[in-house]
Amino acid sequence: KYLQEDDISQKCRDLLPLLPREKGWITTSIYQYQGFWYSPQILSSVLACQDHFQAQDTDVLLITAPKSGTTWLKAILFCILNRAELSGSMQHHPLLTQSPHNLVPFLESQLYLEQEIPNLASFASPRLFATHLPYHLFPTSVKDSGCKLVYLCRNPKDTFVSFWHFANKMRSKGTGEMPLEECLDAFCRGTSPFGPYWDHVQGYYKASSEMPERVLFLRYEDLKEDPHVHVKRLADFLGCPLGKQELMDGTVDGILRMCSFDSLKALEVNKSGELSTGIETNWFFRKGEVGDWLNYISVEMGERIDRVMQEKMHGSGLKL
Ligand code: A3P
Repeated sequence: KYLQEDDISQKCRDLLPLLPREKGWITTSIYQYQGFWYSPQILSSVLACQDHFQAQDTDVLLITAPKSGTTWLKAILFCILNRAELSGSMQHHPLLTQSPHNLVPFLESQLYLEQEIPNLASFASPRLFATHLPYHLFPTSVKDSGCKLVYLCRNPKDTFVSFWHFANKMRSKGTGEMPLEECLDAFCRGTSPFGPYWDHVQGYYKASSEMPERVLFLRYEDLKEDPHVHVKRLADFLGCPLGKQELMDGTVDGILRMCSFDSLKALEVNKSGELSTGIETNWFFRKGEVGDWLNYISVEMGERIDRVMQEKMHGSGLKL
């Protein structure tokens, strides 16, 4: 799906020749639209999403730049929001047999990629979707509605290394690996899919400072360090706080066990499954560690990423 050029809408086809173009990480080219970079296929679905997605006040949207820990937080949010119906049925929990990406699909990288106008009627309220859309590209219905946005970011060096691995898996067979140095260069120029990374993060950081009741800004590293606190924080933010009984009966432990890297990675559905977009589910589970970048890029290369981030985010009050 990510590589099939014949599925691009006419609107997108007409737009592409007018846009700045760069070499892609996964597809041959990526294009800059409203400040961010996309493959033609994803741009086509971003446009469809902008035109057709109608947010509801009760919606919950999880937003990330790629490889920031989306899969993990999809699973956690699904557990938090559905815990009443699922309590006591841990042996038959949907996460045991379905990928977090099927339970919480991406708007532009799944639903609107598969169909220009997907039928979302089967999603019960509160609907839970994920997206990599930058904040200012959201359809007005998202901004005007009371829906809640949860943004997760990650140390850019780990995000970069994780993305490089993932992009190499996604590239069509025979294309070979993209040289790491070339990718690093593109990342630091901002020309990575859904990049520039610093603009993606800053858009949500600003939105969460202005509307803390609507936008929750989280970091992967903080989630790793104290997941219990974050499950409680998420439940509060989503308006479904954990009750006294739940705080004592191991509900949070149960959610975290179910969503842990080792548990999810070991499930058959996440070992040998495939999403309708053709992505193999095991590609989402690599190491799940903080600081793994040092095993792939030099300290100097890491400093280059840090320098760019500092320069671009100067004055925002945000440090990654
Ligand atoms: P690494 O490549 O560094 O291992 P995304 O879900 O946004 O695509 O991000 C994928 C990254 O999150 C990968 O990082 C993956 O291993 C990690 N990940 C997936 N599931 C996780 C989990 N349950 N807990 C922690 N990290 C997880």
